[in-house]
Formats: sequence, structure tokens, C-alpha cells
Amino acid sequence: MTSLLWGLFSMPIILVIVCAEPNCMTHNDLQNNMICSPGSSDYILERGLVSDNNRTIGISLKACRIIDINKESFHSLSSLEDLDLSLNSISNLRLEIFDGAPKLMSLNLSYNLLTAIPLGFFNQTPNIELLDLRGNKINILEEGFLDPLKKLKHLDLASNLLIGKQLSPYIFNINRHIKFIDFSRNEMSDTSELLTHAFQEMNILNLDRCFLTGLPNFALRHNMRTMKQLIMSTNQINNLDNSTAFVNLDNLEILNLAHNKIDSIVGNIFVPLKKVKIIVLRNNKLKSIPDNLFRDLPELANLDLSHNLIDFIPVNAFRGAPLKNLNLSDNKFTYLTDNFCLELRNSGGKLKKIFFNDNPWQCACLFDFLAEVKRMGISYNAVKYNGKTQVCVTEQFSCQRQQNVNAMYVKLYNNLINHKQQ
Ligand SMILES: *[C@@H]1O[C@H](CO)[C@@H](O)[C@H](O)[C@H]1NC(C)=O
Ligand SMILES: *[C@@H]1O[C@H](CO)[C@@H](O)[C@H](O)[C@H]1NC(C)=O
Ligand SMILES: *[C@@H]1O[C@H](CO)[C@@H](O)[C@H](O)[C@H]1NC(C)=O
Ligand SMILES: *[C@@H]1O[C@H](CO)[C@@H](O)[C@H](O)[C@H]1NC(C)=O
Repeated sequence: MTSLLWGLFSMPIILVIVCAEPNCMTHNDLQNNMICSPGSSDYILERGLVSDNNRTIGISLKACRIIDINKESFHSLSSLEDLDLSLNSISNLRLEIFDGAPKLMSLNLSYNLLTAIPLGFFNQTPNIELLDLRGNKINILEEGFLDPLKKLKHLDLASNLLIGKQLSPYIFNINRHIKFIDFSRNEMSDTSELLTHAFQEMNILNLDRCFLTGLPNFALRHNMRTMKQLIMSTNQINNLDNSTAFVNLDNLEILNLAHNKIDSIVGNIFVPLKKVKIIVLRNNKLKSIPDNLFRDLPELANLDLSHNLIDFIPVNAFRGAPLKNLNLSDNKFTYLTDNFCLELRNSGGKLKKIFFNDNPWQCACLFDFLAEVKRMGISYNAVKYNGKTQVCVTEQFSCQRQQNVNAMYVKLYNNLINHKQQ
């Protein structure tokens, strides 16, 4: 009886063991790429699954339930350029695992459980240009660990446990050619200004959700002048009062400061940004903007000032900027200057789209403005202007364009909104 049961159950058990390792298929048509899919249980990668094939150029072991990598797993892969090990559960990296893959250019280790990269790990792979370490638990970067990677261009360190002020400022000493670096979702406040000192070709720097309380000097150094995109959204930056902050960023095209706590800005801070195309100041605490703030920025096409507390929009602030999209939604103004769009167009604006909903509009001013945008063929967010939603408040029949009446209309508007929500 017992042996009969054994006989019945042994088959499926054997099958389960066989399926435990990932299933890999080579696609010769796709430049000798090997693509693996997960087996039925966790797996320790070893020699034999993907190794010993000098023709393989790419290997994907993405989401293959790998928990560890044995030493010769990548033996004799002399053509391998592209390796994807993302979405596994690798917590530890042994030295020398890539000794058989000297041509490796792109290594994706994102979304694993790594806490550190051992010193010397990259000694035999000097050709790596792309290294993705996003979504691990790395809390320390050892000085020198990146030194062999002189060709490194793209480094993603987002969503780890790094603490900027504990990082050695010399970790990137040799990596002059990094163009893209992502530190988002790490704690990067009080990071040494020297951290980025060796960079010569920076293009995109992402500092989203980095607990910054001010503009980080390491992002603004003179050697960062090649930078095109600087993302500092979702931090706690509370002012832009340093008028020389951006003097080095001559080539910046995108500046993203959304979701901070900025409540004051010095009027000439953006002057050096002669190539800036997009400025995002959405979701801050701005009550007013200086009337020279965006003036004469010859490339500025998109500006998002939505979700602030601005009670007056000075049309002069935009003179000489070829604005195409302007977002003024969810602020605190009750009117815009008479012929606002015409003024913008006459002073260099190329307005195509303007958003102005969710402001405590005086009805007369809103009607004037709607007539203007329609007349000029400028598109806007019409969702709420269908006659069914209350979008403005009335006290007078004509638009009162004086700042001293704002407070009264804001109060009326708030009462109305609160009233409706009850
Ligand atoms: C791959 O190439 C290396 C040297 O380029 C050689 O030593 C090795 O035997 C080759 N392996 C296979 C499986 O062809
Ligand atoms: C690395 O892998 C993740 C998850 O598979 C993927 O989303 C990401 O785009 C990859 N990184 C690069 C630089 O291709
Ligand atoms: C203003 O910004 C410049 C350029 O980043 C920086 O060198 C300087 O230290 C900053 N000044 C203050 C007071 O933070
Ligand atoms: C303006 O902001 C609103 C709310 O944040 C957003 O839905 C819209 O896409 C933005 N429009 C433009 C042109 O930036």
C-alpha cells in the first residue's frame, strides 16, 4: 500500500523538480538573445542554464525567481553584452561571476534585494555603460566600487536606502562620462557638493523624493553645465531666494520643482537658463510671482504654475518668453489683466493652450477671459465651463481689476465651495 502510494505520487514530484529551474529559449533571429521564464520555485543560478555559449549576445533572466548566483553561472559568454537580472530576489553578489562575460555593456539588477555591491565586483567588466540598481536595499556605496567602469553612462540608484551625507564624495571620481543618474527616493539632503565633481557630460539628474530641504549644490556645480534635465520634484525646498543658484546651468531644458514648499522666488533666478523649455512649479506655496520671473527666457514654451496660492498674475512676468502652454489652474486669482492673451502674444508668447480653472474668478472677469481665449483660438480646459458647474462668483456686473477686491471674492468663492461640499 505504501509503495503504491509512493508510485502514484513520485511522478508529479519529479515533474515539480524538473520545472524548478527557469526555461530558457534562444532566439537566433533576435541577434542571439536568450530569454528565460521562471520555473515553479526559487532558483539558484548555476553553470549550464545560460553559460557556455560564445554566440549569445543578450540574456534575460528577468523575474526568474533567482535567489542567488553561483560562481560560473556566466562562464564562457564571450559575446554577452546585455544581461537582465531584474525582478529577482538576489541579495548577495559573489566576486568574479562575470569573469566569463568581458563584453558586458548593460547590466540590469533592478528590483532585487541587494544591500551592497562588493568592491572589485566590476573588475572584469570594464565595458559596462548601463547599470540599473533601482529598487534594491543598497545603503552603502563603497569608495572605488565603480572605478573599473570608466565607460559608465547610465546609472540608476533610485529607490534604495542611500544616505547622501554618508556617501564618500569620491565614489564617482573615475566615472566622468555619466550622462544619466537617478538618485530618486533616497535621502540626499546635506550631500557633499563634491559628489558630482568628476562629471563632464551630465545630461539628466533625477532627485525626485530625496528629502531635499534646499537646492543641492552638488546639482548646480560648474561642471554640471551640460545638464539638460534637472528633476527635484517632491522635496521640501521652501524658497528659491539664491539668485545665483542656476548660473552654471546654461544648457538646462527642463527644470522640475513640482511638489515642494516654495513660497518665495527671487525675480532673476531663472535668467541664466537661456535654453530652458519647461519649468514646472506645480504644487508649491507661491502667493505671488515677481514681475520679471520668466522674462526673456527665449526657449520657454511650457510653464506650470498650477496648484499654488497666487492671487495676481503679472503679465509682465512672461514678456519675451515664447510660451505655448501656460497652466494657472488652482490658484487664488479672481481676474486676469485685460487682454491677457493678446499681451502675451504681442510680447513674444505663442500661446496655444491655457489652463485657468479652479480659481476664485469674478464671473464678469471669467466671461471676458473666455471670450478672449475663444476669439484667439487658444484651447483651454473646458470641462467645468458647461454651465452646470459653478465656476465663479458675482458681486458686480463688470470685472473689478484691483487687487484690493481679491480678498472679498476669495471669501465668497470659498463659502460657495464649502457650501456645495456640505
Ligand atoms: C568561448 O571563447 C573562449 C575564448 O574566446 C574559449 O576559451 C571558450 O572555449 C569558448 N567557449 C565555447 C563554449 O565555445
Ligand atoms: C531594468 O529592468 C526593469 C524591470 O524589468 C525595467 O523596468 C527597466 O526599464 C530596466 N532598465 C533599463 C535601463 O532598461
Ligand atoms: C547660491 O548658489 C550658488 C550656486 O549653486 C552656490 O555656490 C552658493 O553657495 C549659494 N549660496 C547660498 C547662500 O546658498
Ligand atoms: C495643468 O494642470 C492641471 C492640473 O494639475 C493638469 O491636469 C493639466 O494637464 C495641466 N495642463 C498643462 C497644459 O500643463
